[in-house]
Amino acid sequence: MTTTTFASASSADGLWTGLRAMDGAPLALAVEAGQVQWMGLPGTEPARFAQVVRHDGGGALVTPGLVDCHTHLVYGGHRAHEFALRLAGASYEEIARAGGGIVSTVRATREAGEDVLFASASARLSQLLAEGVCAVEVKSGYGLALEHERKQLRVARRLAQAHGVAVRTTFLGAHALPPEYAGRSGEYIDLVCREMLPALHAEGLVDAVDVFCERIAFSLEETERVFQAARALGLPIKLHAEQLSDMGGAQLAARYGALSCDHVEHLSQAGIDAMRAAGTVAVLLPGAYYTLRDTHLPPIAALRAAGVPMAVATDHNPGTSPALSLLLMANMACTLFGLTVPEALAGITAHAARALGLQDTHGTLAVGRPADFVLWNVREASELAYWFGQRPVRCVVRQGRIAEGAP
Ligand code: NIG
Ligand code: FE
Repeated sequence: MTTTTFASASSADGLWTGLRAMDGAPLALAVEAGQVQWMGLPGTEPARFAQVVRHDGGGALVTPGLVDCHTHLVYGGHRAHEFALRLAGASYEEIARAGGGIVSTVRATREAGEDVLFASASARLSQLLAEGVCAVEVKSGYGLALEHERKQLRVARRLAQAHGVAVRTTFLGAHALPPEYAGRSGEYIDLVCREMLPALHAEGLVDAVDVFCERIAFSLEETERVFQAARALGLPIKLHAEQLSDMGGAQLAARYGALSCDHVEHLSQAGIDAMRAAGTVAVLLPGAYYTLRDTHLPPIAALRAAGVPMAVATDHNPGTSPALSLLLMANMACTLFGLTVPEALAGITAHAARALGLQDTHGTLAVGRPADFVLWNVREASELAYWFGQRPVRCVVRQGRIAEGAP
């Protein structure tokens, strides 16, 4: 497969024929000015599409562009040594309490210049994009000081421009307590709420706000203070909730109308009920569950019974999920968590878009939306969650351009 830079990618405008929809039915669609303008049975296109450029899909399956709704893509260094420590018996919490974990990536991220961060994040993003991702969330949270959080978020904005992909930025200043605030978490939360968030918001760098609510991170009360600051600025919230313990974060997040609660291994029924009532998406992160060799499964059956939409994301980060394949996460959501294949596929498309507030533009293939879709070399949609370690992508159309491969 050839990889084209975004700047030189050719327009996807024209009539796309020889496609099959996710149910296997023959499909054609027309792209005009970068938008899907018509979809229907081959041969039934409106007359105005008779003379336009034709792209023959050769029988490929077509899906909406994938959406990776939870990543920490921008950071310095790596944490392979912690992987080894965990294999030798140390837990994630023990490593964090001993000064490793998130804080060690904070050191490396603070040391790195913006261009260095951009180069490494850009290479990682390319991996996701080559697999059909058309929208991605990028969190800050490895700077934990205004200038370094700004650096991360600026890199996220630059990634969107350079790669021609929808990037939603999430401010995660309350990810961990920076060492210089040891014993003063209240003061650090003051800084997050009164200085960092307002300044970064004023610079147009923040699309949503997230907190790591956990016994090794921030309390429920501290989390709520950040939510209040976000609300005062009209910003949507998300939460790293109930990953290691049930903190009641999901109920709190739901009260603030959260877009999503993520991880949720220890989510209670009360949390599920609150999320259902608020329309909050549960974002499942099997890469972190797997890497930490967690054994406490998220309550999939109860989420399903309640009708809480479930998304699936990579959670790409150097500590708990060094994963750069969203299809592998779909596979693991089925194998480890027991999602059905249609649930996993909705989890990396429509429900993931909703977790980012992008449900009107991304995650579904429909007329009037940006032309973001993927042609796959598979016979059945179920194969997308079945194969792993390969990339059955034939062609990715992103923002109206043929961005990867060719029809
Ligand atoms: O989503 N849980 C907190 N945050 C990240 C891990 C960050 C890290 O360990 O560097 C997560 O798993
Ligand atoms: Fe995360």
